[in-house]
Amino acid sequence: MSIEKIVVLEDDAIVRKNLETYLRRRHYDVAAAETIADAQDYLSRDNFDVVFVDVRLPDGDGTDLLKQIQSRPQKPLVVMMTGFGSVESAVDCMKNGAFDYLIKPFSNEQIEVTLRKAEEFTQLLNVNRYLSQETSDSEYDLLGRSPAMENLRQLIRKVARTQATVLIQGESGTGKELVARAIYRESSRSAAPFIRVNCAAIPENLIESEFFGHERGAFTGALNKREGRFELAHGGTILLDEISEVSPSVQAKLLRVLQERELERVGGNRTIKVDVRVIATTNRNLEQSVEKKEFRQDLFFRLSVVPIRVPALRERIEDVPHLAEEFMRRFSRKHGVNVKGLTDGAVNALKNHSWPGNVRELQNVIERAVILCEDSGMLEPDHLGLGSDDQNAPGSDSAGAVGDGSFHTLAELEKRHIFGALERCKGNRTHAAKILDVSIRTLRNKLHEYNGTSPKSDETKSTLPE
Ligand SMILES: Nc1ncnc2c1ncn2[C@@H]1O[C@H](COP(=O)(O)OP(=O)(O)OP(=O)(O)O)[C@@H](O)[C@H]1O
Ligand SMILES: [Mg+2]
Repeated sequence: MSIEKIVVLEDDAIVRKNLETYLRRRHYDVAAAETIADAQDYLSRDNFDVVFVDVRLPDGDGTDLLKQIQSRPQKPLVVMMTGFGSVESAVDCMKNGAFDYLIKPFSNEQIEVTLRKAEEFTQLLNVNRYLSQETSDSEYDLLGRSPAMENLRQLIRKVARTQATVLIQGESGTGKELVARAIYRESSRSAAPFIRVNCAAIPENLIESEFFGHERGAFTGALNKREGRFELAHGGTILLDEISEVSPSVQAKLLRVLQERELERVGGNRTIKVDVRVIATTNRNLEQSVEKKEFRQDLFFRLSVVPIRVPALRERIEDVPHLAEEFMRRFSRKHGVNVKGLTDGAVNALKNHSWPGNVRELQNVIERAVILCEDSGMLEPDHLGLGSDDQNAPGSDSAGAVGDGSFHTLAELEKRHIFGALERCKGNRTHAAKILDVSIRTLRNKLHEYNGTSPKSDETKSTLPE
């Protein structure tokens, strides 16, 4: 049961007694009050989950208490009870934040329905609170002690205090999402939702409804109305990950949300106001995309009120040993392996690598090494499997010559190169698209071409195609 404590505020003794008895029978902890003053007294002494409030009371209007409750940090759900079943008064209560209302006389079944709704809602709130606490886990901590990382941390602290839109740029795997989460965690919106949208992973025809929601019947398959991510993020922060992948028509609509903080659902004409802090990331050079007319300049300016560049790992190579040790500890714990440390040789090998996949690549290398090392104690260079960068490069037989002296066709070379990139990125298509400098859609289309199938929206699958 998510709800435990309830206040019943009602001056009519019969109604109060009935409700109280019913709730007690359902094992709720009930405090009964006849006046607003009594109810306020209870509310100031304890945390309650639900308050049933009559509208007409001897010492005032129940809606005033409803309004007061809305400004409390730990606000209980308020169910208004009105004897004058006017639609206006019910609408008025809902506008002022009531969770539900009951029109007197009401039956036990009606109370039951309200309680069930309140239970479900409270449960959702609890899950949400739990999930947002989870994001404050240490796995979201930005590691690194280099001057570049210290500067980045300072910048994060400064922008977190503002409501400014932030554009985070940097190569794939540098930690852009982590930076976005750090801004959110340090901001005044940290208790409100953090909603992430991976713009590259959502098929083009669905992205608009994903962002802005849709009304029932807006398109085939829209059986119910649905709130978009911007609405879900209301009061909180939205992360538009890989913003460069958004089509021009959606770019225009995004611009409007950024300028006016309002939107319409797909298939709807009601304007919805949203209060959302926007953070966007990209690993493509957006200035270049603007020059090439692939990305709207006005949207770029709106997004980059505060631009943040996350440095590549090779630009802060002094961070590598520290990151490697921390990842070693995490993966040892995860895989139940007892690894004591890294040998000097291993540290040197890590420092001499150029890390095209940045921190993500380092994480993968260390995870594999921890598994290979088993309980032998120390991570050795052999466990890391870092050849020279040249040998590792995708398509390293790239002159195109085949053993018998004949030549690969250009198409074959392209295919090999793409597969080489996927292999290097451990099958992660998003990452592979980045190092190939093509959009995730182009990569997906190519892979389906090789498979002889039509493109689907299975971006989350990251396995190599047969
Ligand atoms: N400074 C850091 N400290 C600890 N972990 C990090 C750091 N930077 C990145 N990581 C880890 O590396 C991985 C990649 O980070 P993240 O997803 O934030 O990168 P990204 O820049 O958003 O990459 P992409 O452009 O591919 O989406 C994550 O698992 C993240 O936890
Ligand atoms: Mg990312």
